[in-house]
Amino acid sequence: MAILKIARMGHPVLQQKAEDVGDPSAPEIQRLINDMNETLDDVGGIGLAAPQVHERHRVVIYYEPGRTDEEDAKELTVLINPIIEPLEDEAEVGWESCLSLPGLTGAVPRYTHIRYTGLTPEGDAFEREAHGFHARVLQHECDHLDGVLYPMRMSNMAYFGFTEEMRGRGAPARGEGPDGDDDGEQEDEGEEQ
Ligand code: NI
Repeated sequence: MAILKIARMGHPVLQQKAEDVGDPSAPEIQRLINDMNETLDDVGGIGLAAPQVHERHRVVIYYEPGRTDEEDAKELTVLINPIIEPLEDEAEVGWESCLSLPGLTGAVPRYTHIRYTGLTPEGDAFEREAHGFHARVLQHECDHLDGVLYPMRMSNMAYFGFTEEMRGRGAPARGEGPDGDDDGEQEDEGEEQ
């Protein structure tokens, strides 16, 4: 196990498309998952994608929001070769932050209801649905696999800035979502992804 260095915005590894994992049980993939787990626990974020630790594999890990009632009992999910499909056109704008953009935050429109599929570390296929903040985390993490960082998804850069400066800013104005019908709800949990 090792704590890995996290790439910051501007590093080319964050702009490249990651490659599908052929064999999730391969030792280098299992080692990567363990190291990503340790790295995420060390920095205290909510999710991490392999390109953020300089590895071009389609692997993300995240703590599923709202999975349990107890704050300390969050369950880590490992997702390999994930594919996201929006189930509704509805999107909403919410605050996001990212371990690759330390100290910054921005309001990002995301689909509110998605289905996602992928492989477990054991190589089993799985499928889940996600709503709200859970769906937001998935879209943020999977974007990393395609070289997309959250500012590239923003519709109004007035809502991008340093977290310390943005604190106390209200929710983004209505109509910022891609389809203009977001409810402006602020969902950020203050954890970086
Ligand atoms: Ni991120």
